[in-house]
Amino acid sequence: MAFNLKGRNLLTIKNYTPEEIEFLLQLSVKLKQDKYAGIRSKNLDGKNIALIFEKPSTRTRCAFVCACVDEGAHPEYLGKGDIQLGKKETVKDTARVLGRMFDGIQFRGFKHETVEILGEYAGVPVWNGLTDAFHPTQVLADLMTVMEHKGNLKGLKIVYVGDGRNNVANSLMVGAAKMGMNFCIIAPPELQPEKSLVDEAKKFADESRGTVNITSNVEEGVKGADVIYTDVWVSMGEEDKFDERLRLLKPYQVNEDMICKTGNSEVIFLHCLPAFHNTDTDVSSKNADICEVTEGVFESRHSKVFDQAENRLHTIKAVMVATL
Ligand code: CP
Ligand code: NVA
Repeated sequence: MAFNLKGRNLLTIKNYTPEEIEFLLQLSVKLKQDKYAGIRSKNLDGKNIALIFEKPSTRTRCAFVCACVDEGAHPEYLGKGDIQLGKKETVKDTARVLGRMFDGIQFRGFKHETVEILGEYAGVPVWNGLTDAFHPTQVLADLMTVMEHKGNLKGLKIVYVGDGRNNVANSLMVGAAKMGMNFCIIAPPELQPEKSLVDEAKKFADESRGTVNITSNVEEGVKGADVIYTDVWVSMGEEDKFDERLRLLKPYQVNEDMICKTGNSEVIFLHCLPAFHNTDTDVSSKNADICEVTEGVFESRHSKVFDQAENRLHTIKAVMVATL
């Protein structure tokens, strides 16, 4: 079924119904098929899209740029230090100026409040490309990847292991709950999600016949998992927490033993990326113990992380096509 999402913001997946999420996922599948078939519909012909980035990005930035160009829109990258936002000019004024010139605005940055103000005052659709609190375009790609590999979402067990109170964990919890999945966060007590958000997610799960569980017990949490998901232990802007996170999260590394403990030989591994997995990155190469996932799992047949990364393009394209 088609839904009219024209003019809508995407600030968090909380504001989308399960039917609207399903519609965006189906549209993503169609746009992916079209791209593979060489069909360019130019759904965004002549549109101008502002891409504001306070934090660095590979996937989100490139997905927005390629999606714009595929569909005939012009993307304008506005990096940290390029515009007056929050320094010489308030967020509210910037929103109203950009809204007079652009047809849509992507924001990646620190405070979730910034994207909310942009969304309130721009007068054109605003999409959250990651804040400290949420990463809604990521969860669409995550759900699409699970659907591609498992055929459906409802009733599947999806387990997020690691920093259970970061933007990716928060969004995945809400998205999985809305889609009727059995969602579990495995994290130490210090890094579990806020109770108010868990309560909200549980309500969504009740409506879709899913479940939400939070535990610190790895064996209990991973048992029967269809999907194991992790993210970096230290998110952008939290670099000073490195030693503390290492101490708390070492027992939560995704490794071969954890995959085995799921008891499911067809379990898939997901990661939003970038990932530390014993490779040649400046930090992770120093010590394999500081990686949230082992090289063995990252490079195994279970790992679908590059399908997931590609799906950022198709899902972000779907969000822009649906809301503009
Ligand atoms: N997953 C993700 O958002 O990646 P980037 O930080 O590279 O955009
Ligand atoms: N939680 C990570 C996600 C990166 C895509 C961060 O915020 O840095």
